[in-house]
Amino acid sequence: MKQIILMLLVAFSAPVFAQADANLGIIPAPVSVKKYKGNFRLTSETIIMTDSPNHRAVRYFADYLKKSGMGNSITDMTMLDERHRVNKNVIVLALNFKGDLPSEGYELDINEDKIVLNGRYAGLFYGVQSLIQLIKPVSAGNALIPCAYVKDYPRFSYRGMHLDVSRHFFDVDYVKRYIDIMSFYKLNHFHWHLTDDQGWRIEIKKYPKLTEVGSKRAQTKIGSQSKGDPDLYDNTPYEGFYTQDQIREIVAYADARFITVVPEIEMPGHSMAAVASYPELSCDPTRSYKVGDHWGEFKDVYCPSEETFRIMGEILNEVFELFPGRYIHIGGDEVPKDAWKASEFCKQLITDRNLKDAEGLQSYFISRMERYINAQHHSIIGWDEILEGGLAPNATVMSWRGEKGGISAAQQGHDVIMTPGSGGLYFDHAQSKSTQEPLAIGGNAPLSKTYAYDPVPAVLGKDEQKHVIGVQANLWTEYMATNSKADYMLLPRMLALSEVAWTPVKNKDFRNFSEQRLPGHLARIENKGYNFRVPVAIGASDTTLTGAKFTMELAPSVEGAKIYYTIDGYAPRETDLVYTEPVKITVPQGKEIEFKTIVITPAGKRSNVTTAKLSNK
Ligand code: ACM
Repeated sequence: MKQIILMLLVAFSAPVFAQADANLGIIPAPVSVKKYKGNFRLTSETIIMTDSPNHRAVRYFADYLKKSGMGNSITDMTMLDERHRVNKNVIVLALNFKGDLPSEGYELDINEDKIVLNGRYAGLFYGVQSLIQLIKPVSAGNALIPCAYVKDYPRFSYRGMHLDVSRHFFDVDYVKRYIDIMSFYKLNHFHWHLTDDQGWRIEIKKYPKLTEVGSKRAQTKIGSQSKGDPDLYDNTPYEGFYTQDQIREIVAYADARFITVVPEIEMPGHSMAAVASYPELSCDPTRSYKVGDHWGEFKDVYCPSEETFRIMGEILNEVFELFPGRYIHIGGDEVPKDAWKASEFCKQLITDRNLKDAEGLQSYFISRMERYINAQHHSIIGWDEILEGGLAPNATVMSWRGEKGGISAAQQGHDVIMTPGSGGLYFDHAQSKSTQEPLAIGGNAPLSKTYAYDPVPAVLGKDEQKHVIGVQANLWTEYMATNSKADYMLLPRMLALSEVAWTPVKNKDFRNFSEQRLPGHLARIENKGYNFRVPVAIGASDTTLTGAKFTMELAPSVEGAKIYYTIDGYAPRETDLVYTEPVKITVPQGKEIEFKTIVITPAGKRSNVTTAKLSNK
């Protein structure tokens, strides 16, 4: 009987990889897809016709074709009369079309002779991304695109990915690659965490010490701070910052991909690097301060003085010049009040301003800065601590300590971006509970958890829900000293985020995402040279199964990867058995056999080892 139940379980949970994918492999899953028979054949002869040859989407597509070795000609169809427009072997990219599409929407009509992509402004770019995802190379200069009709538009207007470049610095090339991968998946806001206790990373011409002093730390903490590792440092100086020219280069690069850069200039806390550079920003300028060399909160924060507001205003004047987007993120999180409580100046300020206590100074500080930023035609975003003591009038709240802050802000009529660590959106958390995961800050945010997150809390009424303008995941880099570690923590979770941010809830399906679409994407991502966490084989897990006869049915989590397995208790590797078909295992009465698997990709990346204990005891 046990066996029968087990066989049924296996049948019910059989991987869905063999089924046809209703989303045609596109990530994030579109709003609607209709499949037709046949394929469009893309070759270097295919003509690209467009009504907008200078649109960023058209230039991006032309560049893509050139890099793929095709170099197709781009024809401005507005220069042709009806008779000269081709109707065979042509791809039309149009902004001016009949009909209506939601903001950032596109429709893609693929027939054997012709592809028509209509897009509503940025929608044309997103349609190009979907089109590129559909291209299946056959041989050099020859590819197939399956016939289909796709209509698509995003669920949220703010689709963000954050990168902390303070705890560890990531160079211009890395940041561009980060922006590239965001744009493949239709994310549109890059939250660039440029300043923190451990390093100030943006050149400010009027305050050169911010980078001369603030971009350098003497050493860096080794190992985990929270798990009680020994108090050890690497004794190695660490530094890095972006010049204003480099920042302009990155902002333009992002803009070409419809990504707005949101700079974060942290205040009043997480500011040791700036206070070390200019002690007059602190409440006790007679002391000397050093750039942080370990993690967590630091007690020395900006003093809410006129001097600080003047300096911060002058810093922001340069920030406004560099970042044309609407939002400036002013941080506002984790502000210990110790320095303010000890300061005679702050005590007097609390009295003069009729504030309740030192907590009120936080709200006073943020509101002062908001007034300045609003006057320069920008809007502030702050972490949810900016709710404390009362929200600044026009602030957008980034809810990271769960959803409570976001809910409260939406109820007060403020815009909200959801980014709760508890929702699987902190990508510094580990990706499984396995001891095989690399050092992470803690927590557990597996791909399935990120994928399942819904940014709109059910407690909000319809009008309040409209204030949830989007969602973001954060990559805090205390424990990511290398590009490959950052990639590993980012991918594939960022693809799940893209589906959270873009896809209607009713179209979300984790099995379809992880088993049918993700393996092909991970193969592409590997070919593009990114690192990523290789998911364990589809159908494999750390588990105990009871019975006598087992059929282990698996599929690779990355297209083209191999699954190796053992039944001898050793960790599998390339020298072991290769999975080619369901493995039948008989366990003698009273015994247990361990079935272990690993996925190894064509480039040699490895998944964790899984162990299924097959027990007939
Ligand atoms: C945060 O994670 N301190 C916003």
